[in-house]
Amino acid sequence: MTATTTAPGCPVDESFDPLSPEFLADPYAKLPGPAKPIFFAPSIGYYVLTRYADIEAVFRDPASYSAAVAQAPLVAIIPEAQRILLAGGHKPQPSMVSLDEPEHARLRKPAARAFSMKRVTAMIPVIEATAARLLDAVGQAQEFDLVAALAFPLPANIVFALMGVPAEDYARLKHWCGYRAALGWGRPAPEDQVDIAANIAAYRKYLRDLVDAKVREPGDDLAGDLIAIHREEPDRLTLDEIASILFSLSFAGHETTTGLIGNTVRRLLEDPGRWADIVAHPELIPKAVEETLRYDPSVPVWRRVTTRPVTLAGVDLPEGARLFLWLAAAGRDEAAFDHPGYFDLYRPEPERHLAFGKGLHYCLGANLGRLEAQIAVAELARRYPRLRLAPDQPLSFHPNISFRGPQVLKVRSRP
Ligand code: HEM
Repeated sequence: MTATTTAPGCPVDESFDPLSPEFLADPYAKLPGPAKPIFFAPSIGYYVLTRYADIEAVFRDPASYSAAVAQAPLVAIIPEAQRILLAGGHKPQPSMVSLDEPEHARLRKPAARAFSMKRVTAMIPVIEATAARLLDAVGQAQEFDLVAALAFPLPANIVFALMGVPAEDYARLKHWCGYRAALGWGRPAPEDQVDIAANIAAYRKYLRDLVDAKVREPGDDLAGDLIAIHREEPDRLTLDEIASILFSLSFAGHETTTGLIGNTVRRLLEDPGRWADIVAHPELIPKAVEETLRYDPSVPVWRRVTTRPVTLAGVDLPEGARLFLWLAAAGRDEAAFDHPGYFDLYRPEPERHLAFGKGLHYCLGANLGRLEAQIAVAELARRYPRLRLAPDQPLSFHPNISFRGPQVLKVRSRP
């Protein structure tokens, strides 16, 4: 897409590429500030929105802003890979998060019913025990990778256990989830796309087979709850739809929370004074997690597409304009938060962030994700009061636009 296709009066930033190594290393260096609330980025063909108020307005108006592009690949997918994806049941709008009403509600309602506060609360002892077991394995090692030891396995184990996946299959599911981030939010090279598509098709098939197995032998898990809803009224929730819900949860409940734990620990350890505050006052931990979601969210970008001509941030946009909702920039908007560039453990209302979206698609797993991050930090603070970042480590991030957290975070259990 070229600059000539952009809406009149909209600034164009030829240099903005959210998949460039410089941007991935430090997206905050590129924040445009209040003078540039909207611009067109030819590198991805999206209008970038940066203000809290505009992004919130988009989330709140699903009639004017469709979710259809939420997981649309950023590059053309080659026909062979498309064929494999379609044959594997992966449609262009592949799950709940990219559906509009009424199709969205068909999946969201039963998923929300099954994903009840009761189920989430029942997970607390499981999350605590899993975090403890994972950190027992670290023991008194002086230096370890926080992501490999805790931030990655904790949410994966929890969401798979919640869904009812047998423990021996966790590793396979984790492996498949990585392909999803590359397809929907990265820039996969044509030569890699067939492999990615084959893995996603296998992932779909696995979940569809799991649903059949759970029909034969229901368990006390979320898949079992969904099957109970299906039995009440088979037309309201089909078995294919249950597999689709599990597809949404398995991915959404995993990468997002790994990133949240990694980002929270990174930000707390960046200033040893913050860690000392957390150790002395563990009641600050929920605040620390919310402040991280504002300051350095693990889902820094979400997407929408206009369904009619609209005016946004003073620019007239046509129908079909694709929007890059820069949630990380909204968290740093000085019209919404005082001193937004400062990580403040004592900030009033950091939870006003938009890191979980808003409105009809508001994150279904927000409470679970929060709980996991809070328990992870609490367990770390209890065991390692003198925890530090290992010095001089360059951080790396998976090359995609929407899921962000350090891939490795080396920490020292004592200075
Ligand atoms: C902890 C970090 C997490 C973050 C930052 C996050 C962020 C988001 C965002 C930005 C959306 C899109 C909202 C919108 O379009 O308005 C979303 C949707 C969703 N999230 Fe999360 N999420 C997290 C954790 C989880 C967990 C743990 C689960 C489930 C186990 C989950 C399940 C979902 C689902 C199913 C949707 C789609 C809801 C719908 O379309 O109605 N998320 N999340």
